[in-house]
Amino acid sequence: MSEILRIAIQTKGRLNEDSMTLVQETGIKLTGGSRKLISAAKNFPLEALFLRDDDIPQSVADSVADIGIVGLNEVLEKKMNVEIKKYLGFSKCRLSLAIPKNEEYTGVEFFNGKKIATSYPVILNDFLSKHNINADVHIISGSVEIAPGIGLADAIFDIVSSGSTLVSNRLKEVEVVAESEAVLVKNPKLSAEKEAILKDLIFRMESVERASDKKYILLNAPNNKLDLICNILPGMKSPTITPLAETGWSSIHSVIKEGDFWEVIDNLKKNGAQGILVVPIEKMIM
Ligand code: PRP
Ligand code: ZN
Repeated sequence: MSEILRIAIQTKGRLNEDSMTLVQETGIKLTGGSRKLISAAKNFPLEALFLRDDDIPQSVADSVADIGIVGLNEVLEKKMNVEIKKYLGFSKCRLSLAIPKNEEYTGVEFFNGKKIATSYPVILNDFLSKHNINADVHIISGSVEIAPGIGLADAIFDIVSSGSTLVSNRLKEVEVVAESEAVLVKNPKLSAEKEAILKDLIFRMESVERASDKKYILLNAPNNKLDLICNILPGMKSPTITPLAETGWSSIHSVIKEGDFWEVIDNLKKNGAQGILVVPIEKMIM
């Protein structure tokens, strides 16, 4: 019997969209979308299980799912037995301490004897004991940011991304305790067959990732300028050169980095390149 790898994905919220996009970009088609609890892929031995992000570390540790996409913040908080396989680079945020805007901040000692509201007591307590701070930690499961305003706490410890939640609650970030981003986690003990499926999945993710900041460039150039133009193009390998029907001219194909784009294009034009075409690359297989 052939096995199916089960991936836990956040039902809705900050991770859901990018997680779904990542899976889709690997060419895996999930049926049903995130409205169902489980969705099978048509063309790959994978099925998605949609859960709250808070539940993903445990579901992977308990083999309810084999792998999962979740914020590092949840992995650090839940301290479950899962392995981090890959940092995914999206849903970047930090876990920070924040206090009312008008309060003067003197350093970590500020928190001695203070009430701090949070949904991340494990990470917060680690930080407080490391700094020998004696504070009163109040666990709240949502809307932590309103706690100081209603007199429930003196400070909060929560996720900060754009910072707009802090601003609209008249709070200021005073200590960054941890950085977070989406990670791919796995159960430490998968069958050989599931490990092989995971390897294939990660290979696909890496191919998409490599392509994401690169463009394919095609252009025509007079033969006497070929050397010059090839030097401008910082391709992965040497560019492909094919003669055009018009004598004295060739077509050059190469790969350039998105960041180098405008500088390279300018330089190419100055050196006689014509008919420059830049196209997106979907995947890059090494
Ligand atoms: C987090 C956090 C803040 C907000 C911060 O909640 O609790 O409310 O994001 O983001 P900002 O700095 O961009 O304003 P999230 O949306 O992750 O929901 P959750 O806490 O219910 O998981
Ligand atoms: Zn959550």
